[in-house]
Amino acid sequence: MSEFIITGGSRLEGDITVSGGKNAVLPIMAASVMARTPCVLHNAPDLVDVRVMSEILRGLGAVVERVNSGRSLYIDPSDLSNTVVDEALMRQVRSSIFLIGPLVARMGKATVSYPGGCDIGQRPIDQHLKGLAALGVAFEEAHGNIVAQAPKLQGADIHLDIPSVGATENIMMCASLAPGVTVIRNAAKEPEIVDLQGFLNSMGARIRGAGTDVIRVEGVESLQGCEHTVMPDRIEVGTLMVAAAITAGDIYIPNAVAEHVQAVTSKLREVGTSVTVLHRGIRVIGSHRRRPTDVKTLPYPGFPTDMQPQMMALLSIAEGTSVISETVFESRFKQAEELGRMGAQIRTEGRTAIIKGVPRLSGARVVSTDLRSGASLVLAGLAAEGETIVSGIHHVDRGYERLERKLAALGAKIIRQE
Ligand code: EPZ
Repeated sequence: MSEFIITGGSRLEGDITVSGGKNAVLPIMAASVMARTPCVLHNAPDLVDVRVMSEILRGLGAVVERVNSGRSLYIDPSDLSNTVVDEALMRQVRSSIFLIGPLVARMGKATVSYPGGCDIGQRPIDQHLKGLAALGVAFEEAHGNIVAQAPKLQGADIHLDIPSVGATENIMMCASLAPGVTVIRNAAKEPEIVDLQGFLNSMGARIRGAGTDVIRVEGVESLQGCEHTVMPDRIEVGTLMVAAAITAGDIYIPNAVAEHVQAVTSKLREVGTSVTVLHRGIRVIGSHRRRPTDVKTLPYPGFPTDMQPQMMALLSIAEGTSVISETVFESRFKQAEELGRMGAQIRTEGRTAIIKGVPRLSGARVVSTDLRSGASLVLAGLAAEGETIVSGIHHVDRGYERLERKLAALGAKIIRQE
């Protein structure tokens, strides 16, 4: 089990470019199976989740290869032949549930396994099923799998009970090839959905409204392959912003899209971090004095749940007490106990965490149990006195492309020990 070994105390300084967005490239890879000809995805991050999704697409009969010295993904779905998603692979990337929509739209059928819960919550899929059923998809259960079939799709007016990111994407993709007009109301507004709309429209889809809570799709006959550049990973941007804040560092992220991280910027400014939006990118200068603040996670453009564990690490060394309310997932405080081993004083009650700031954290051996809690422990290690060993970093590799190299390039003392 590989580990990160971190010696805390270094100020992070310098320029760092973030990778393409994990939560943008995954749905776009799913959407690519609807094309009749090849796609090329530029700025596709080399993450564990992307490698698993690539294997899933190969299992369906697509050709998936890294090209352009590894910076791009070539996907040729023209010989797609299989409609059964590999169960073991699906368990590794539960968001692959959004393959149902594209597969049914392209092949008329899809068999997937229930994605199941994970370390941050139950991850139900009722909104996915409700929206796809409205488009004419029929579901039945067979040996723990979901078999989706749609002899004939048709557009529908769909109102989501909650602005689910995955459900919005799943329905939007399927509706692209459903005759008639589909309206998705109470849609999620995340930037990754705007990126997906751009990709689908480049393939010949007719979609408007992504980024707002009403998305309108006019079904078309077929979709063709295209080239697309994946948006920068806004959660990696946020994570590096917190790295500067927690080490009182000074970093510049040239490809950060300031609009995508407004909620994180606002919270960091409340803590006393200086964030400057430049003509291109953003500059973040951390302070040694950190004020407490309260954080409530919400769907975009609210404060992102994927940045909550990272914020908890920062607030654990603020001068006062902060409160975090996690409204999106039901058990996303796994990092609290591990931060406690480093001296943080955090009490959790259901979806609320009360963080009493301490002057400093001490290095310790800690365990990462999911992607963002792992990132949170790395950030805490950067600020802690002494050595921190973070194990379970395969979770971190799911969503960050060589995080240790990016941090070391900014002056952090961090190595990966296989
Ligand atoms: C996406 O997950 C992201 N993953 C998550 O990022 C992110 O935390 C989440 O959106 C919220 O922003 C990808 O994009 C691959 P949701 P998703 O459907 O689509 C409930 C990371 O760390 N819900 O918006 O699964 C659900 O239980 C990951 O990068 C239903 O009740 O999120 C949750 O409480 C973690 N029924 C809330 O909605 C449904 O049918 C938000 O889930 C679907 C969801």
